[in-house]
Amino acid sequence: MDLYEYQARDIFGAHGVPVLHGIVARTPDEARAAATALGDGLKVVKAQVKTGGRGKAGGVKLARTPEETEAKAAEILGMDIKGHTVRTVLIADGADIAEEYYFSILLDRSERRYLAMASVEGGMEIEQLAVERPDALAKVAVDPLVGVDEAKADEIIAAAGFRPELHDQVKAAILRLWDVYKGEDATLVEVNPLVLTEDGTIIALDGKVTLDDNAGFRHPDHEALVDQAAEDPLEAKAKAANLNYVKLDGQVGIIGNGAGLVMSTLDVVALAGAPMGVKPANFLDIGGGASAEVMAAGLDVILGDAQVKSVLVNVFGGITACDEVANGIVQALALLGDAETKPLVVRLDGNNVEEGRRILAAANHPLVTMVDTMDGAAAKAAELAQ
Ligand SMILES: Nc1ncnc2c1ncn2[C@@H]1O[C@H](COP(=O)(O)OP(=O)(O)OP(=O)(O)O)[C@@H](O)[C@H]1O
Ligand SMILES: [Mg+2]
Repeated sequence: MDLYEYQARDIFGAHGVPVLHGIVARTPDEARAAATALGDGLKVVKAQVKTGGRGKAGGVKLARTPEETEAKAAEILGMDIKGHTVRTVLIADGADIAEEYYFSILLDRSERRYLAMASVEGGMEIEQLAVERPDALAKVAVDPLVGVDEAKADEIIAAAGFRPELHDQVKAAILRLWDVYKGEDATLVEVNPLVLTEDGTIIALDGKVTLDDNAGFRHPDHEALVDQAAEDPLEAKAKAANLNYVKLDGQVGIIGNGAGLVMSTLDVVALAGAPMGVKPANFLDIGGGASAEVMAAGLDVILGDAQVKSVLVNVFGGITACDEVANGIVQALALLGDAETKPLVVRLDGNNVEEGRRILAAANHPLVTMVDTMDGAAAKAAELAQ
């Protein structure tokens, strides 16, 4: 899960990373009140969207008074930044910036470790810096078993070339940011810019944090960070039913058991549907059980997708035998009743397949077609979706 800047800032603050005071606002009125509450001095109005380049897009503006803050917020709220509508702004104290730096720590999957990056040349887009002046961006590998300890922080600071008088402050910030990364189970913590103010203080002026959803069970408090309004309603429904569902942009709903089988099913449907412009509508792995309840919950989510024209159920009976799965499908259709209005192609194979097929044939549901092979089932489902 990617966080908004204001959420990252809250987490930074909780871990002792130096940040500026700020208040979130959803209307120009709230923005004005926030500026008043923050007190005198320069303010900055920042679009809260989960994408980069907000400043360049006009989503970061300075304001001198509460009136000006209200006006700038009115300009920024509702703005579209790279396809993201701005619904909230962060009103923060303005900083007197002397210099801008860069720091990040992320998961380096290919090297199976973490990577810390730092640069004393901020103010430029980091991707551009990495391409044009790779020497100016220090990259330091971090052993996951050791983490960023004092020695590693010194190494990062030396590699980036921070001036000696900044060493202690930058080191403290890096160690606190590592605490965020480790403590919150993040896969990315990025500060761009990390600034030096005119009065010589180091502050994290912007924050990007990605949390590892797989570690969510360790962090019940992270649940509150989910942006309900921005979440896809079908994905939210699937999550509530504990289903492994990803919405895609096609017409054939897919249900399978086991992530590998579902991935292959997406491939064969994409291939079969290509000539007629038909594509898979989702990924849905119902796992090992495939009980009637789980099957019904899965079908319910998929049928809620208005784009879906047909559904392909592709189950390989293993520990759960095909007859149980077939009973699950029959009972799921009964549970859904009139809600089930789209054709269903079912391909069963594996443990106890004969009995499974017999059960489905005996049920003789008008919307269900059985096909023996995966390719045949994909072709049939694509044809029905057309
Ligand atoms: N509190 C602040 N006071 C003064 N200037 C600020 C403040 N916050 C941001 N700025 C200025 O605005 C610039 C852009 O801000 P920020 O880094 O938050 O957004 P961005 O980089 O455009 O967005 P993103 O990081 O999502 O690409 C900063 O580099 C800094 O110069
Ligand atoms: Mg930034």
